[in-house]
Amino acid sequence: MTDAARRKLLTWLLNSSFGALAATVLYPVARFVSPPEIPEADTNLVEAGLSNDPELVEKGFKILRFGNDPVILLRTEADEYRAFAGTCTHLDCIVEFHRTENVIWCNCHNGEYDTQGKVVGGPPPRPLQAFKVDLVDKGPGQPSAIVVSRV
Ligand code: FES
Repeated sequence: MTDAARRKLLTWLLNSSFGALAATVLYPVARFVSPPEIPEADTNLVEAGLSNDPELVEKGFKILRFGNDPVILLRTEADEYRAFAGTCTHLDCIVEFHRTENVIWCNCHNGEYDTQGKVVGGPPPRPLQAFKVDLVDKGPGQPSAIVVSRV
């Protein structure tokens, strides 16, 4: 191998090493700066389980994922099912249901809503957004399926 050919080979190796190093560093930075667009799931309907769901029976409520948003599903003392946006209208804390007091409660600033989603105490400025709840009959002797959808 001549000196010129050796020099050309070394120059090529050096340049490709710098190129590989630059790509190794720049690619993750570029991916971080411009993450891929993930479209938000267009959710209008969620199956929330069965009417004998132990969480609903014992606690009287459960939090569902409605796309990226939490939704609270209630089972009242009167055995009625209701669903509302799961975040408080004050500062977006997740709410919970106190069945014995029949109150949807936000523990961040003691906000309270009734079982219609209306504000009854604390700082929340607006009622909770209501969702529609349907019970789908699964046959005789079977628990119904709970379906929550946008109003
Ligand atoms: S965030 Fe719920 S009362 Fe403040």
